[in-house]
Amino acid sequence: MAVKIAVLKETRPNERRVAMVPAVADKLAKLGVEIHMQSGAGNAVKLPDSAFKNVTFAANPQGLVSDADIVLAVQPPTAEVVGAMKEGSILLSFVYAHKEAELTKQLRDRKVTCFAMELVPRITRAQAMDALSSQAALAGYYAALLGATNLARILPMMTTAVGSIRPAKTLVMGLGVAGLQALATARRLGSMVEGYDVRPETKEQAESLGAKFVETGIDARGQGGYARELTQEEKDKVASVVTKHIQQADIVITTAAIPGRPSPKLISKAQVDGMKAGAVIVDLAAEGGGNCEYTQPGETIQVGQVTIVAPLNVPSLLGEHASELYAKNQLNLLELMIKDKVLKLDWEDEVIAKACLTHGGEIKNEAAKKAVEG
Ligand code: NAI
Repeated sequence: MAVKIAVLKETRPNERRVAMVPAVADKLAKLGVEIHMQSGAGNAVKLPDSAFKNVTFAANPQGLVSDADIVLAVQPPTAEVVGAMKEGSILLSFVYAHKEAELTKQLRDRKVTCFAMELVPRITRAQAMDALSSQAALAGYYAALLGATNLARILPMMTTAVGSIRPAKTLVMGLGVAGLQALATARRLGSMVEGYDVRPETKEQAESLGAKFVETGIDARGQGGYARELTQEEKDKVASVVTKHIQQADIVITTAAIPGRPSPKLISKAQVDGMKAGAVIVDLAAEGGGNCEYTQPGETIQVGQVTIVAPLNVPSLLGEHASELYAKNQLNLLELMIKDKVLKLDWEDEVIAKACLTHGGEIKNEAAKKAVEG
């Protein structure tokens, strides 16, 4: 019997993405997979049911998943959907178990094999499966646009009959995937760009994009290529260097994150109070509480003459491309699991083993197990 995949329509507020696009459905059909989708799943990104060939549509999500071997989604599904999945079936979606303890327990107890997209290891071989990166790159691009459109001035230098306009200055704090993309985009728009991070290897990456690196002398490399939290002494040292750069910038884009922790506060209220009139902060870390002390997640606010933009779920605002890249990430992951039309999980494969959240009635990821089971 052919492997049956079910694709859900997203139900969380402000989620426009869909885990399947027509080109990926065509490729999966060639792998001999039977694809079923919930009606209207692609509507929010202008992909009507009629855009998909080789796909059978159904309205009821529980009915859809009840005999599926694999369920695909962007956000974690509802308890009702997980309750309808058959034992031993596979779920591929973002989960973030520490925020979804009940759902994770339900996946464990229903013996669903869940691969959480945020757990795909950040290794070279898995780059094409890395949805964190694909979505962060889009968010970084969009952050630069949000900065530009919330500013009452232009980014490039411009020479006019009445004189020259100086280019804007953009500072990007946190030079991971999103930060580097924000830097590149702001520069393409004509801004002068500066970058800052606590991982020293980002200096070369920022400079290769034409940015100046703000040296703080801090090395806070943590585990697995991520940053660790700074000590109070380190924070004070950073503040003594970056304050001047924050206060000279027209746009400050912040993207700093530490896995499993609230967003570190990189910009204090006092630093904002000393910023240039008309400056804009785009806080991409709003999901984790924000990098600026004034940030109100999901809101755009004015603090004095400074605008602070803190959007949530930015990739969803670019839903068409975000869905395309996400669906391709999942396709590459599925190609590890489906060989010669047969579903087979190779637990010796590092990607399969590390991306697994629940399997056979257990929580397999240690950090998630600790967060959920104590
Ligand atoms: P992230 O979203 O976890 O954090 C964003 C950035 O914030 C990071 O660069 C981090 O160093 C920085 N940051 C944290 N605390 C900070 C602070 N107090 N001040 C300033 N900056 C701070 O990062 P992302 O984008 O998920 O990337 C994490 C790492 O994974 C990077 O080293 C990246 O190069 C690596 N990576 C590797 C891949 C691969 O080899 N396949 C794919 C994608 C990322």
